[in-house]
Amino acid sequence: MAASRRICVYPGTFDPITRGHLDIIDRGVKLFDLLVVAVAESPGKAPLFSAQERLAMIREEVGRHRNVKVESFDSLLMDYVRNKGANIVLRGLRVMSDFEYEFQMALINRKLDPSIETVFMMTSDNYAPVSSRFIKEIARYGGDERL
Ligand code: COA
Repeated sequence: MAASRRICVYPGTFDPITRGHLDIIDRGVKLFDLLVVAVAESPGKAPLFSAQERLAMIREEVGRHRNVKVESFDSLLMDYVRNKGANIVLRGLRVMSDFEYEFQMALINRKLDPSIETVFMMTSDNYAPVSSRFIKEIARYGGDERL
C-alpha cells in the first residue's frame, strides 16, 4: 500500500510576506510532500495589499519550489485544511509574545477539529524581530525595509 502524502498548510495574512515567512517555507518544504501557503483574506485586519497582490508576491518568491502551492481562503482555517485533504498546520514562532497567541489559536483549532495537528517551527534568529507591520512602517517613512 502506498504511504499517504504528507500535506501541510502554512496559513497567514502575509500582508506582505516577509523573509521570516520565506525562511519558514524554505525549511518547512523539506518536511512535507506538499506545502500549501494559504493566504487568509483577513478582512478584519484591513490588509494593505489585496489578496490577489499578496498571492502574486508569494508566488514570485516561492516559484523555485516544486512542492509549494499558493492559494487564498476566506473560511475557517480548519474547514480549509480538511477540504485540502491535509492534517497539519504549520506556524512560525519568533518571540515569547507569539507563543500566547499561537497556543490559544492552536487549542481553539484543535477543538474545531482534533484530527488536525498544528506544528511550530522556530524562526531563524535573523528574523526574530521581523514583522509585516514593521516592514510596512519602515517603507512608509522611506527607510530600508529589506531586513
Ligand atoms: N518571521 C517573521 N515574521 C513573522 C513570522 C516569521 N517566521 N511569522 C509570523 N510573522 C509575523 C507577520 O509578519 C505578522 O506581522 P504583523 O502582525 O506585524 O502583521 C504576524 O507575525 C502574523 O502574521 P501572519 O503570520 O501572516 O499570520 P496571522 O496571525 O495574520 O494569521 C490566521 C492568522 C490567518 C492563521 C488566522 O487568523 C486564521 O486562521 N484565520 C481564518 C479564520 C479562522 O479559522 N479563525 C479561527 C482561528 S482561532
